[in-house]
Amino acid sequence: MADSPADSPDYEHKVLDCWRESADHWQHLISHNRLPSRVVTNPAIEYAILSHQPSTVLDVGCGEGWLARQLAAQGISVTGIDAVASLVDTARQQDPLSHYHCLDYDALPGPLAEQHFDLAVCNFSLFGDASVRKLITALLAMVAPDGHLLIQTLHPMSACQGDYREGWRDSQWQGLDAAGTTMGEAPPWYFRTLAGWLNLVRQAGQLVRVEEPLDPQTRLPLSLLIHLSPLKQECNKQ
Ligand SMILES: C[S@@+](CC[C@H](N)C(=O)[O-])C[C@H]1O[C@@H](n2cnc3c(N)ncnc32)[C@H](O)[C@@H]1O
Repeated sequence: MADSPADSPDYEHKVLDCWRESADHWQHLISHNRLPSRVVTNPAIEYAILSHQPSTVLDVGCGEGWLARQLAAQGISVTGIDAVASLVDTARQQDPLSHYHCLDYDALPGPLAEQHFDLAVCNFSLFGDASVRKLITALLAMVAPDGHLLIQTLHPMSACQGDYREGWRDSQWQGLDAAGTTMGEAPPWYFRTLAGWLNLVRQAGQLVRVEEPLDPQTRLPLSLLIHLSPLKQECNKQ
């Protein structure tokens, strides 16, 4: 864990550097189903999205695009963004119907300023501290007034590794080697407690509901899945 808050800006920058270094490795892990928890968390996020019956979805940090493809196959118009060019290229090649942009979260709304989405989703794509606060606010402004923002992230109970204090964590690929790919340094991430997540999202939007998809074997939560909507505008009472 980072020792002082002064370390944070460096960690924020390091996240994307690590994703760029690890893009091949990540593609290999996803395409060879090397992440066992995804058997639970992939259907959980798809089901959560479909429960809102969106026609248009913004997939934020779309990676190689598996989720965008799943949604597009169901007739949903999907826009994916990710800052790693090789991942965006893979997503685009496999899914000519959807729209992909190579974009850092910092640049939002950027080229998407004129659009409103029924739903925006961040599936295991939030790593930072202050940057995540800023991004959630930006995304809630990009969804329709009756739209939703969904966030799926590692569940704090299973991700805390015996230390429940908030702060930056270094991470490892933990046995997730992938033959023939360059295994870059695993990206650091900012650990938030359950209270930390809930307080963070409630500052920016309206909390709709929270889910905790379980590992069927251990019966412990694998992820935290948060449904948010934009804050309702107060009517001017005269
Ligand atoms: C764990 S992967 C998840 C990918 C995908 N959502 C999925 O479910 O497989 C995280 C993704 O977030 C992207 N990402 C992280 N920080 C970003 C940033 N600041 N701007 C754009 N993309 C970012 C990474 O490039 C990576 O593709």
